[in-house]
Amino acid sequence: MLFKQQALLRQKLFLLGSLAIGSLLYLVARVGSLDRLQPICPIESRLGPPHLPEQIPLRTLQYKRGLLHEIRKGNATKEQIRMHNLVQQLPRAIIIGVRKGGTRALLEMLNLHPAVVKASQEIHFFDNEQNYARGIDWYREKMPFSFLHQITIEKSPAYFITEEVPERIFKMNSSIKLLIIVREPTTRAVSDYTQVLEGKERKNKTYHKFEKLAIDGNTCDVNTKYKAVRTSIYTKHLERWLKYFPVEHFHIVDGDRLITDPLPELQLVERFLNLPSRISRYNLYFNATRGFYCLRFNNVFNKCLAGSKGRIHPEVDPSVVAKLRKFFHPFNQKFYQITGRTFNWP
Ligand code: A3P
Repeated sequence: MLFKQQALLRQKLFLLGSLAIGSLLYLVARVGSLDRLQPICPIESRLGPPHLPEQIPLRTLQYKRGLLHEIRKGNATKEQIRMHNLVQQLPRAIIIGVRKGGTRALLEMLNLHPAVVKASQEIHFFDNEQNYARGIDWYREKMPFSFLHQITIEKSPAYFITEEVPERIFKMNSSIKLLIIVREPTTRAVSDYTQVLEGKERKNKTYHKFEKLAIDGNTCDVNTKYKAVRTSIYTKHLERWLKYFPVEHFHIVDGDRLITDPLPELQLVERFLNLPSRISRYNLYFNATRGFYCLRFNNVFNKCLAGSKGRIHPEVDPSVVAKLRKFFHPFNQKFYQITGRTFNWP
C-alpha cells in the first residue's frame, strides 16, 4: 500500500516537474525571439481570403474594349452612358509610387481585371497646388466611366514623395487602398536618372554623369540632396504616410518580380483589393523583342508598354554602385520591418 502511494506521488512530482521545465523552455524561446526583427504586420496575415465569390458580370471585359473605348474616343452618347448606368467614381485604390518602380506596368496589368478601371493619365491632383485648388469634383471628372461595382485606380508616382499628399488623400477617403511598387533602390535611382538624361538629350542639352550627381564631390559620400537618391529611401517617405494610414492600407509590390514574373505579384494585388482572381497566364505573354511581358486582353487585342519603358541604363562605376547599396542597406532593413515584405536587395 505504502509502496503504491509512493509511486503515485513520484508520478505526480514527475508531471509537475515536466510542466515547469516546459513553461521555462517556452519563456526562454519567447524572450529570445523578441530580440529578432519582427515584421509589424506580416504580409500574408494582412491579405483577405484568396477565393472570393463571383460577382463580376461577364460583359465588363467586352465593355472595356467596346463602350469604354468609344467613350474615350468621344463617340458615346450621353444616352448610352445613362442607359448602362455608367458613372465617374473617385479611385478606391491609388498607385502612389514609386517613380520608375513599374507604376505604368502595374496599372495596365491591373486593368486586365474586369472589375478594375484605370485612369489613363497621371492626374497629379494631390501633389499639384493648382490642380488641388480645382477641388474634388474636378478630380472626379478626370476619372473614367465605370459600373458601380468596379474599382477605379489611378497612378501618380509623385504622390509618394510629396509632403502634403498623405493628408490630402486621407481627407478624401481615409479607408482608401494604397499601392507602392518598389525596385532595388540603386537600380531605381539609375532608371530615374536615365529618364531625366533622355529628356535633356532630346532638348540637345548636356547633363552630368550619374556618378557626379549621386556622390558629393567634396565629402565623397552619397549625395542625399540628389532627388533620385532621396526617392529611393523608401522608408523615409513611407513613415510620413504612416502618420495618416495604418500599415494595413498599403500593399507593396515587388517591381523587380513584376518584370520577370508578373502574375504572382498581380494575384497578391487582387487579394489585397478583395477581388476574385481573374488575371491569368493567358493575359500576359513574354515578348522577346521588347524583353518584357506584354498584355493580352483577348484574341484580337494585345499591347506592350511604350518604348519609354525599359530604357537601356548607362554603365555606372561599380564603386559608386557599391557605395549606394551600402548607403541604402539600413533604410531597406527598416522598410522590410515596417511593411512585412523582405526583398533580396544587396
Ligand atoms: P526601366 O526603364 O528602368 O527599365 P514607371 O512606369 O514607374 O516609370 O517604371 C518604368 C519601369 O517599369 C521600367 O524601368 C521597366 O523596367 C519596368 N517594367 C516593369 N514591367 C514592365 C513591362 N511589362 N513593360 C515595360 N516596362 C516594364
